[in-house]
Amino acid sequence: MRRVLLTGASGGVGSRLRRLLKPLYPELILSDLKPPADLAPDERFIAADLADADAMLRLCENIDGIVHLGGYSIEGPWETILQANIIGCHNLFEAARKQGVRRVVFASSNHVMGFHRRDAKIGIEAVPLPDTRYGLSKLFGEGLGALYAHKHGLGVLSIRIGNVGDEPIDQRRLAIWLEPNDLVALIRIGLEKPDLVYEVVYGMSDNASAWWDNRRALELGYKPQARSADHLAAAMAGQAKTPPDPLGDLYQGGTFCSQEYDADQKAR
Ligand SMILES: NC(=O)c1ccc[n+]([C@@H]2O[C@H](COP(=O)([O-])OP(=O)(O)OC[C@H]3O[C@@H](n4cnc5c(N)ncnc54)[C@H](O)[C@@H]3O)[C@@H](O)[C@H]2O)c1
Repeated sequence: MRRVLLTGASGGVGSRLRRLLKPLYPELILSDLKPPADLAPDERFIAADLADADAMLRLCENIDGIVHLGGYSIEGPWETILQANIIGCHNLFEAARKQGVRRVVFASSNHVMGFHRRDAKIGIEAVPLPDTRYGLSKLFGEGLGALYAHKHGLGVLSIRIGNVGDEPIDQRRLAIWLEPNDLVALIRIGLEKPDLVYEVVYGMSDNASAWWDNRRALELGYKPQARSADHLAAAMAGQAKTPPDPLGDLYQGGTFCSQEYDADQKAR
């Protein structure tokens, strides 16, 4: 894996990953709508809008593998999600196919599964229950990955990322936290593991209170190093400052479930 493209490179996760990936993939190419403010002289950046199919085709030329973080990363209006995450993600996979890219690692989200209850432990085979238009768009991205892997021969890993950060900041994050170096370990599996066709894994560290059965990730060779239990006191201190959300607290997606909620909760 020589030339790796990182989309969404100016975002929160991208800013961390560009530093962690550069030693592994020296020819790393960064892309986003705008360059990161602190772009270094030895970094290569190409501005491109995911919604622009021709720009994606040019961006993917001579690329071996893609880490696709770019897109709208929270709930938003349908038109915004449509352009960045549906049309944009399709443009990215289509460009990858046309340019002969070998691997795509797709940043999916826990919000694909947000309406699963917290008292359930789910594996990758559980039925998707997206909690937002955003979560639904990530499910579409996973579907694109499966289609392009099985029909067109790309190797694709969808990582249902929990929450990336230096430490878990509340009780929900204790279950879904993903330390950045553990994310890199998952990305390396997606880019480098021989014979990978299409896989879905949960993007979390070694979390004792996890809601997810991540055995497929372990079978693929993932060995998470960070343990959320080591940050229990700080996370619970953060939780004490969090306003109560009785509905969100029932479900894995948290506040993403409670926003815009107008169903009769007693009926479900
Ligand atoms: N942060 C997390 O813990 C977390 C959790 C689950 C999933 N994810 C996913 O991981 C990825 C990175 O997350 P993040 O927190 O860094 O998000 P972010 O919003 O900070 O970064 C996303 C980047 O995508 C870029 N982008 C948006 N629309 C674009 C377009 N049309 N064309 C090109 N670039 C565009 C933005 O400019 C931004 O820099 C996202 O896809 C997000 O959905 C993140």
